[in-house]
Parts: sequence; C-alpha cells; structure tokens
Amino acid sequence: MESMIKTWLVMPILFLYASCLHYCVNGKSQVPCVFIFGDSLSDCGNNNNLPTSPKSNYKPYGIDFPTGPTGRFTNGRTAIDIITQLLGFEKFIPPFANTSGSDILKGVNYASGGAGIRNETSKATGFVISLGLQLTNHGVTVSQIATRLGSLDKARQYLNKCLYYVNIGSNDYINNYFLPQLYPTSQIYSPQQYAEALIQELSLNLLALHDIGARKYVLVTLGRLGCIPNAILNHGTDGSCVDEENSPPFIFDAELKSLVDHLNNKFSADSKFIFINSTLESDGQNPWISGFVVPNAPCCPLRLIGGCIPDERPCYNRSEYVFWDAFHPSEAWNLLTARWSYNSHDSGFTYPMDIKHLVEQETKMELGSTNENTSKLSASS
Ligand SMILES: *[C@@H]1O[C@H](CO)[C@@H](O)[C@H](O)[C@H]1NC(C)=O
Ligand SMILES: *[C@@H]1O[C@H](CO)[C@@H](O)[C@H](O)[C@H]1NC(C)=O
Ligand SMILES: *[C@@H]1O[C@H](CO)[C@@H](O)[C@H](O)[C@H]1NC(C)=O
Ligand SMILES: *[C@@H]1O[C@H](CO)[C@@H](O)[C@H](O)[C@H]1NC(C)=O
Ligand SMILES: *[C@@H]1O[C@H](CO)[C@@H](O)[C@H](O)[C@H]1NC(C)=O
Repeated sequence: MESMIKTWLVMPILFLYASCLHYCVNGKSQVPCVFIFGDSLSDCGNNNNLPTSPKSNYKPYGIDFPTGPTGRFTNGRTAIDIITQLLGFEKFIPPFANTSGSDILKGVNYASGGAGIRNETSKATGFVISLGLQLTNHGVTVSQIATRLGSLDKARQYLNKCLYYVNIGSNDYINNYFLPQLYPTSQIYSPQQYAEALIQELSLNLLALHDIGARKYVLVTLGRLGCIPNAILNHGTDGSCVDEENSPPFIFDAELKSLVDHLNNKFSADSKFIFINSTLESDGQNPWISGFVVPNAPCCPLRLIGGCIPDERPCYNRSEYVFWDAFHPSEAWNLLTARWSYNSHDSGFTYPMDIKHLVEQETKMELGSTNENTSKLSASS
C-alpha cells in the first residue's frame, strides 16, 4: 500500500520533469542571454564591494527578495529582473562582480549604482562603474565566451541573438548637472546641448557594443526626475514636483527616441533598437496605476543621502507606494513598468515595438539572414 502511494506520487513528478525536458530545454527562455548596462535602477550587487556610497546590501533593502538584501536598490526585484523572468529565465542575471561559477552564456549584469554615461558623474560619491567601464567589463565577458565557444566569430554569432538592456542617464542629471556646486556642466552646456552631448556619448557606446555582437537593444528614458522624492524633499517648495528638474531630462528622452529612429534606419539590415518611455501618467486615466495612492513619498525611512536607514521598518503596504526610497521605485511599480515594457501596444510607451515583439523579430531576422536577399545585402556592404 505504502509503495503504491509512493508510485502515485512519483509518476506525476517524473511526468512533469519529462515535459520540462521537452519544453524547457528547447527554447525555455525567449533569448539565449541578456546583458544589462545601467545604474542603481538595474544594479544587482556590483557596488557591494566598491569604495562608494551608493549601496543597498543591507535591510530593509531586499525585504521582498527571495534571498534578502543583494545590492538591489529596492524592496524586491528590479524592472530588469522581472523582464528576464517574463522572457523565461529561471535565474536572475548575475552581477559582473560575482560571475565566477555562474553561467555567463546566459548574460551578465554590469549596472552600478550611481553610474552615468559621463565618466565624471557621481565621482563625488566615490568609485562607481561608469558606462565606459561597463563596456570594458563586457569586453572581458565576450573574450570568455569566445574561449568557451571556440572563436570570436562564434561568440559574435551567439551574441547576435541576445538582448542588450541599457537604462542609464539619470545620474548625469541628479549627480552632475543638477549639482552646480560640484560640477561645471550646467554652466558649460544648455539643457539642449547637455542632452545632445549625453546622447552622442551613449550612441558611441551602443556602436561599440554593435562591433562586438549586439543586435537587439532596449533603451529606457529617464522620466520625471523632478518628481522623485529626493527632488521634492530637497529642492521643492510645497511638496510638488520640481519643474526645473523635469524639463532637462525630458529633452534627453526626446533625443533618445530620435536616436532609436536613427539607429534603426542605419542598421535596418541587421539590428533593432527599441525605446521604453518610463513615464507612466498617474492622472487617473490608467486604472491599473490607481492602486498607487502614494506617488511621491518614500516607503522606507530615509538617511540624509536618500537611502533607507538600516534596519528601520518600512511603510505598512509597499504595494501602495511608487517609491521605495528617495530615488528608486518599489517592486510593485517595477512590476508595472516591466510588464508594460514586455507587452504593450501603446507606442507612447514602447516604440516602435515592445520587448515581446523585439524578441520575435529576432527569429525572423535569423531566418532572413540565410536568404538570398540578405546575403546580397551583406555582400554589398
Ligand atoms: C555569488 O554567486 C554565487 C552563485 O553563483 C552565490 O551562491 C553567492 O551567494 C553570490 N555571492 C554574492 C555576494 O552575491
Ligand atoms: C571614459 O572612460 C572610458 C573607459 O575608461 C574611456 O574609454 C573613455 O575614453 C572615457 N571618456 C571620456 C570622455 O573621457
Ligand atoms: C513619454 O510619455 C509621457 C507621458 O505620456 C509624454 O509626456 C512624453 O512626451 C513621452 N516621451 C517621449 C520622448 O515620447
Ligand atoms: C495594499 O495595497 C494594495 C493596492 O492598493 C491593495 O490591493 C492591498 O489589498 C493592500 N494590502 C493590504 C494588506 O492592505
Ligand atoms: C527578396 O527581394 C525581393 C525584391 O526586393 C522580394 O520581392 C522578395 O520577397 C524578397 N525575398 C525574401 C525571401 O525576403
């Protein structure tokens, strides 16, 4: 009797395991790998051992994350964590700082809290890994992948199918342009010139990524930096958004959209770039946003520099808060933006397509790359 029960229990488990072998192994995740570049919105532990002040590997950060505090700057998962889950990855993409023993063929996260497009951004807080250094680190990963696959060409072919997520630029404003006492940029550049200079440097980095195999890019806007709790608490007057800190990054966002058009034209034969507008309007028109009854206040009690006070108890209902600390959204908000980034038919939010379609697009491109027309294209270029 007892052994029969065991058999009945074992059978379904074996069956589940067998069907997983069938479906999971063959294309379980929709892309083979994801590479992540950015700042604290995406960091998952790269800053933990750096001599810098932006850190989050202590409670109450990670209070809703399966393994507790990790160096993510939120209570649970970041937006890119959730996006990779939606793409079918079972494990989170590891930080570059801790890739030993992990499977780099599935991707690496280079994001560093405080990082900017410009090298000098956040230097006042210590050492952070700016975008240029993140690319240098990616070069290290690519040579490791080349060694594993046998050649640099094979590595490039493999990387062609991967997703490159680039979410950076907020600190070039918050920790640079908006700090005239520490940085001269606001005296040197008008907001328009500054946005153009940032886009120019970002563009060079995207081209450098293209040279080492990147073909599918997700670029994310900065949104309303004048409405984050830090701006309202430190530079606001009556608890409302700081207009002067909303408009300069909006110019960057518009230029980013133009860059996406430009690069899609330039590389129409082999690459796709998409733009994610992280500015969701909470104006009552979008019912799914209405649960966020606290739009501009942090959930955790703050230290002077805007991070959570260690071990302090956060707000009662974290799902009602857009913001976790003075700078970073809550997991609940990340869930919302990640779902929209992955699947949205609103061209004001994902342009010219969402991540789900970007991923499908790739399959067509791969098939297309063996047809006559494309071979002609590449032969003539
Ligand atoms: C580093 O990665 C290993 C597994 O890849 C994990 O067990 C360990 O907890 C990680 N360490 C840190 C500090 O994140
Ligand atoms: C920024 O740093 C990167 C990596 O060290 C370097 O390649 C690049 O030339 C630097 N950019 C500027 C404008 O100094
Ligand atoms: C992003 O969305 C906001 C809100 O809908 C809109 O005001 C803004 O113009 C959009 N930005 C871009 C660059 O499309
Ligand atoms: C927390 O807030 C969300 C969104 O408003 C709501 O759906 C949920 O019921 C609340 N949970 C508790 C425990 O109050
Ligand atoms: C190749 O190009 C021709 C003319 O431009 C077009 O009609 C045809 O559908 C293309 N074939 C494929 C397989 O893309």
